[in-house]
Amino acid sequence: MMRVAARMGSIGTESAFEVSARARALEAQGRSIVHLEIGEPDFDTPVHAREAAKRALDEGQTHYAPFAGIPALREAIAADVTARKGVAADPSQVFVTVGGKGVMLYAILGLVDPGDEVIVPDPGYPIYESLTRFVGATVVPIPIRMANDFRLDVDELASLVTPRTRLLIINSPANPTGGVLTRADLEAIAALAIRHDLWVMTDEIYGRITYDGAEHISIASLPGMAERTIVLDGFSKTFAMTGWRLGYAVVPPSLVSVFGQLIINTVSCAPTFAQVGAVAAMTGPQDDVDAMVVEFRARRDLVVAGLNAIPGIRCAMPLGAFYAFPDVSGTGLPGAVLAERLLHEAGVCVLAGTAFGGYGADHIRISYATSRENLTEALGRIRSFVDGLPHG
Ligand SMILES: Cc1ncc(COP(=O)(O)O)c(C=O)c1O
Repeated sequence: MMRVAARMGSIGTESAFEVSARARALEAQGRSIVHLEIGEPDFDTPVHAREAAKRALDEGQTHYAPFAGIPALREAIAADVTARKGVAADPSQVFVTVGGKGVMLYAILGLVDPGDEVIVPDPGYPIYESLTRFVGATVVPIPIRMANDFRLDVDELASLVTPRTRLLIINSPANPTGGVLTRADLEAIAALAIRHDLWVMTDEIYGRITYDGAEHISIASLPGMAERTIVLDGFSKTFAMTGWRLGYAVVPPSLVSVFGQLIINTVSCAPTFAQVGAVAAMTGPQDDVDAMVVEFRARRDLVVAGLNAIPGIRCAMPLGAFYAFPDVSGTGLPGAVLAERLLHEAGVCVLAGTAFGGYGADHIRISYATSRENLTEALGRIRSFVDGLPHG
């Protein structure tokens, strides 16, 4: 019998892609579905980025780029990270990757041995857990609770560190909760990482999508952290460029050769003309980003108010990203059952909280990266469905 590698038994998935495919299959049968499962901005990439990429194609920039990225983009990223995150980055520490996801792969492959422990947020982005298991390491979940404003509890985090802990992954603003870590949280996490000599990967892909004055602070900017921190960020969310597949890492000098070798061994480089477009996105006018965040904020308010008006649903006000993560236990249904029934019986596609870890069991994730009209329609459908439940 032909067989596949044993390690495929430990890889996970990102269920958003599968759930979305199922919803589209229902639509193909004529069903009306409102999509609230999709984790990408519904806006267009800024026109100056598209024009720059088109020009690059016409000028023949269709060949390999340097493996770490084109110099103009590495310089733009280093300047942006220095200005916005307060992380003094040299272009030599910047790697352009295929999606922010590339950074996760390289950080985990490059730093974690079989038998090591990796602390990951739960609920959190599922690929952290999947890749950790894939390399034969152990996932140690740090619970992220609504009662704590979807911020991790630093004392609880401290209790999870063991001599085997190699890497700590944090994500602020967070998917799926919209939680944002405070400066005090980050200072306490930094002290812990330094005390136990841990690597930290900080996923800051939603860093520019914050509300109500919530401050985005990079843990890499805190004293003693730059040398142990990998910053993950990218173009997907900030500039509505998910299909361009461009992310970046800022790494300490000690990891420059690790990231370089892993990129050469996997993708050689990110697409050249796309990188030219990304330079324009990052260095050009930022009005589109600002307008997008203003619209997301209005949608957030609409969704959170609408959800809280439904008996059995409690939704906290997210301070970042474009997700709401309501507790639906008051409906009498676990999040996963509610999500499934909403899709089939109400025509609303959301994700089960458990798609992000066991601590999400009472929740569903709603992406509000869709029009207010769609959101209003979806809220109406959810409300009618929940009203029809025996104990709803
Ligand atoms: C927290 C988080 N990190 C990283 C990514 C991956 O981004 P990219 O599309 O750039 O690979 C996502 C995408 O959903 C995300 O939610």
